[in-house]
Amino acid sequence: MNVLLFGTSGMVGQGVLRECLLDDRVASVVAVGRAPLGLSDTKLREIVHTDFTDFSAVADEFADVDACFFCLGVTSAGKGEEEYRHITYDFTLAAARALPDDPGLTFVYVSGEGTDSSERGRQMWARVKGRTENALLAMPFHAYMFRPGFILAKHGEQSRTPAYRRLYPVFSVLYPLIRRLAPNKVTTTENIGRAMLVVAGRGGGGEHILRSPDINRVAATWTPGQSGS
Ligand SMILES: NC(=O)c1ccc[n+]([C@@H]2O[C@H](COP(=O)([O-])OP(=O)(O)OC[C@H]3O[C@@H](n4cnc5c(N)ncnc54)[C@H](OP(=O)(O)O)[C@@H]3O)[C@@H](O)[C@H]2O)c1
Repeated sequence: MNVLLFGTSGMVGQGVLRECLLDDRVASVVAVGRAPLGLSDTKLREIVHTDFTDFSAVADEFADVDACFFCLGVTSAGKGEEEYRHITYDFTLAAARALPDDPGLTFVYVSGEGTDSSERGRQMWARVKGRTENALLAMPFHAYMFRPGFILAKHGEQSRTPAYRRLYPVFSVLYPLIRRLAPNKVTTTENIGRAMLVVAGRGGGGEHILRSPDINRVAATWTPGQSGS
């Protein structure tokens, strides 16, 4: 499987990259970002790109992709709807439209718990994520929407969002308690990565909107085909 990865420098993206590099079923990972990651791995090829509304200059690099894992995203805190929609909807759809015309391709989008499929609710971020999900689900590939709530950084992944970086050490300590009080709201970076690999091998089957319990359940079906973890 050849994977195209967006948001690799972020907390979720780092976790997904780790699982991809460990899994022998993944032949290659092309990671698109606006700055180099500074990582070296024989399976990894980095593309530094600045205009996330137009991927035509690098679309040739996407030719052999079997699965796109889209982990790019920002918090809506401090952002107006236009700015948030630009990054959330415009960037995601630009990437999706730059993919090869292959109905067998899988696209996994990380949205979030509470995403508003009706696009009419009161929360701006949830409407925008809902609009993004709906547009992806209508596209001619196998689209899967991941809606995690709280995510434990299982292998030291770091958020790119400064406020979250300060909060995560506290959340990590509280994780066992959070998991006990709200078992349906928690998952891990490892489970997200593994669940992405599982759904990418499903040929379009199974549920297409996955909340944390679904992500955890699918991740539990992940089987070795891996070089170690
Ligand atoms: N973390 C959580 O607990 C959580 C929970 C539910 C849902 N989610 C969703 O999961 C997704 C990823 O979250 P995360 O925690 O991994 O976020 P993160 O650590 O802040 O990483 C964000 C990623 O998006 C990229 N990005 C942000 N703004 C960009 C821009 N203007 N142009 C190009 N790239 C940009 C960042 O690249 P740079 O390194 O270049 O900034 C980074 O790779 C988001 O959509 C988030 O809403 C996260």
